[in-house]
Amino acid sequence: MKFICTLIFMITLLLSAPLMAADAAAGKAKAATCVACHGPEGVSVNPMWPNLAGQKEAYLAKQMRDFRDGRRNDPVMGPMAKGLSDEDIANLAAYYASLK
Ligand code: HEC
Repeated sequence: MKFICTLIFMITLLLSAPLMAADAAAGKAKAATCVACHGPEGVSVNPMWPNLAGQKEAYLAKQMRDFRDGRRNDPVMGPMAKGLSDEDIANLAAYYASLK
């Protein structure tokens, strides 16, 4: 019986995970590879690379999805977005939007 309860609890947790709000801390962890171009605080050091800090969350998420799905093309940024899941994108957008 205890096992069944634990099982039900675990399944509920798993199912509710995608409904939870975007996680900026997880986004920060995921951003380790973005730092090289977009800077450690989302402010780029190179005029070729846009700043991301403080940009609107919905805009950032849309741009990343567009790069990933091929609606927006850039030889540098396109491949960077290829491996991102919807959850990664939501978290990254929350993280960069939270920066100043
Ligand atoms: C090798 C350099 C490089 C890396 C690494 C990189 N980017 Fe980019 N990123 C770019 C460039 C260049 C652009 C601008 C592309 C263009 O002009 O269309 C860009 C554009 C963007 C934009 C759109 C900004 C805007 O204002 O439209 C977002 C969002 C973004 N990058 C997020 C990320 C994230 C998140 C990561 C890490 C997963 C990442 N980038 C890693 C080079 C990079």
